[in-house]
Amino acid sequence: MVKFGLCIFLMESLEAKNRIDALTKEIERHNRSYYVENSPTISDYEFDLLLKELASLEKLYPQYALENSPTKHVGSDLETDSSPFKQEKHLHPMLSLANTYNIQELREFDARVKKSVSTAFTYNCELKFDGSGINLLYRDGKLVRALTRGDGEKGDDVTRNIKTIKSIPLSLKGSGYPAEFEIRGEVYMPFEAFDRLNYDKILNEEQPFANPRNAAAGSLKMLSSSQVAERGLQCVLYHLIASEDYKTPLHSLSLKEASSWGLPISEYSKQCNDIEEVISYIESWDERRKSLPFPTDGMVVKVDQYAIQKLLGFTSKTPRWAVAYKFKPEEALSKVLSIDYQVGRSGAVTPVANLEPVQLSGTVVKRATLHNADQMEILDIRIGDYVYVEKGGEIIPKITRVELSKREPASEKVVFPTLCPACSTPLVRDPQQAKFFCPNSEGCPPQIEGKFLHFASRKAMNINVGEVAIHQLCEREFIKKLEDLYTLNDLQLLSLDKWKGKSVENFRTSLEESKKVPFGRVLYALGIKHIGEVSAKTLAAEYKTVDALSKATVEQLIQTQDVGEALAQSIVEYFKEPANIKTVEALRSFGLQFEEKEVEKVSDTLSGMTIMITGNYSISRDLMKQYIVSHGGKVGSSVSANTTYLLAGSKAGAAKLQKAEKLGIPVISEEEFYRIANPNGETFKGESNDAKENDEYTLF
Ligand code: IVH
Repeated sequence: MVKFGLCIFLMESLEAKNRIDALTKEIERHNRSYYVENSPTISDYEFDLLLKELASLEKLYPQYALENSPTKHVGSDLETDSSPFKQEKHLHPMLSLANTYNIQELREFDARVKKSVSTAFTYNCELKFDGSGINLLYRDGKLVRALTRGDGEKGDDVTRNIKTIKSIPLSLKGSGYPAEFEIRGEVYMPFEAFDRLNYDKILNEEQPFANPRNAAAGSLKMLSSSQVAERGLQCVLYHLIASEDYKTPLHSLSLKEASSWGLPISEYSKQCNDIEEVISYIESWDERRKSLPFPTDGMVVKVDQYAIQKLLGFTSKTPRWAVAYKFKPEEALSKVLSIDYQVGRSGAVTPVANLEPVQLSGTVVKRATLHNADQMEILDIRIGDYVYVEKGGEIIPKITRVELSKREPASEKVVFPTLCPACSTPLVRDPQQAKFFCPNSEGCPPQIEGKFLHFASRKAMNINVGEVAIHQLCEREFIKKLEDLYTLNDLQLLSLDKWKGKSVENFRTSLEESKKVPFGRVLYALGIKHIGEVSAKTLAAEYKTVDALSKATVEQLIQTQDVGEALAQSIVEYFKEPANIKTVEALRSFGLQFEEKEVEKVSDTLSGMTIMITGNYSISRDLMKQYIVSHGGKVGSSVSANTTYLLAGSKAGAAKLQKAEKLGIPVISEEEFYRIANPNGETFKGESNDAKENDEYTLF
């Protein structure tokens, strides 16, 4: 009997150990997808449930809790292998918040606080912005550096990128600020900027961001600050930490002061006398938050008095004086009316459900993606089913599950088409992806239209023509090949819906401008399979002319940085096709750039200087070299006494940095360099970012 009892105990305890180990591993994996890869695979809610389960098991079986358990440390956003960012220590650890999804637990939090303190206190209740944590350091009123949260102890130095956010002052105004202080906050992406970014990504057949939080975190870690500047990031600050000399008694007051120094502070907060007031304030936001133009995921409740915060202190992971009340992810229930199969530029077929219109997070949702045939199979989706829709990626809502209790018994399984819905060509499955493709790239209308749209897109030729116009031009057979865009006559253009003299003029001006677009972007615009913006620029810099590129073999091409086997194959195949050669020739005859330009002299600002380059910049290293030469400078071959500056980009070589330091050579950032090269203040941009007037965003 005793033996049997012991056996159960051992089994249970072994099970607990196994579960703790498995949960720990799983949570660490999710932490990485969330904080480092910015591409979570489960919702915050599901993640919090896993963490909660682990915390309760660790409480019951402390002997199995791992020393470095995710319940004890914050998820790290540090790029582990050879981070391109310098890592720096926070002056004070940067912690996370305990969170809850229910009001009862808020009351329990209040009871715990009351148990620990005998004096009266109040709460400050704030909106919880859903972005990426940031820690700014100000010294003598000047922004010194900006770090991501990192692992809580040290963060990645993203100062250059943070400086592109206009609302963050480089110098404080007013007076009374501490000589040195850290102020933490959130960098976030408003929905509008997020939609714009993902629209561009979808158009270029890149993976869109799952949500604005990931987009903000991903943008902060981009190497090119000029690209960060285009992302429309915003910042709000909510936690000031200064030395003992800072005498302001309330957290809420410190935020008001920070605002008077010009720092961006949220207008959505309230001082509450007790937890009931907190709860009504939270409830007042339940609906209201849905119409905010930026993402939020809850409310943060903080004890307002610094003295009491100090008394309560911290656990290893969170302060005991604050808690986050998280809103449940919004979902809506709607009926599947039909399923469309959309064909993209590369021929990939994506199933999209048409839904009975339903309100979700401030917009009406009529369509939701089903990703691919496998996902349809997993969901076992049927026409007429009621399904739950969530805005994972805001502009592309996704179907998360089927409400089986509402299923019509007679409903039938949906069969993925075997023929292309646009041109009836038999579909083929790409063995490397879960996608089906239409192989008829030359004759399939959406693929052809997609190629024109890509060619005209902002990062390619930046031509003023939108989706609807391209559709009509193709349908009327005014354009069949890319080069046809350059021979359209006024009559054809004026026949397009809503096109008047002004649109024709804009279109023609942008066509003229496109003739100045550098070779790298032209190469990208051609839409060669697998080519991206970066690989196109690298290839242009390496091969210099389209003629040289067209003669390269796969073996030669894969030697190029950023070029893999698939792209190399596809380049060779592209230039084997006579129709493509004809397109290139025709575009060249219209004046498009198919050669890397000789460096033109722009100024003499760098005359007499020898600049050594190291690391990566917002433009390619080749462009940087050209830039130096075009401003009268020389590019050095090694750091020596003759070097004027060492221009250090991200991933700068340690040896070069050390040598420069030893020789007393000034090390400058890309931004400082542009200031030296452009003393009159015009900022340099790698490429034009003019918005198109005729953008017609109708994908979703
Ligand atoms: S206070 C030690 N206030 O939510 C205090 N955090 O889930 C730490 N967040 O790490 C933070 N809005 O990145 C605070 N008003 C707010 C916030 C906020 C968003 C983020 C922050 C934090 C995370 C915890």
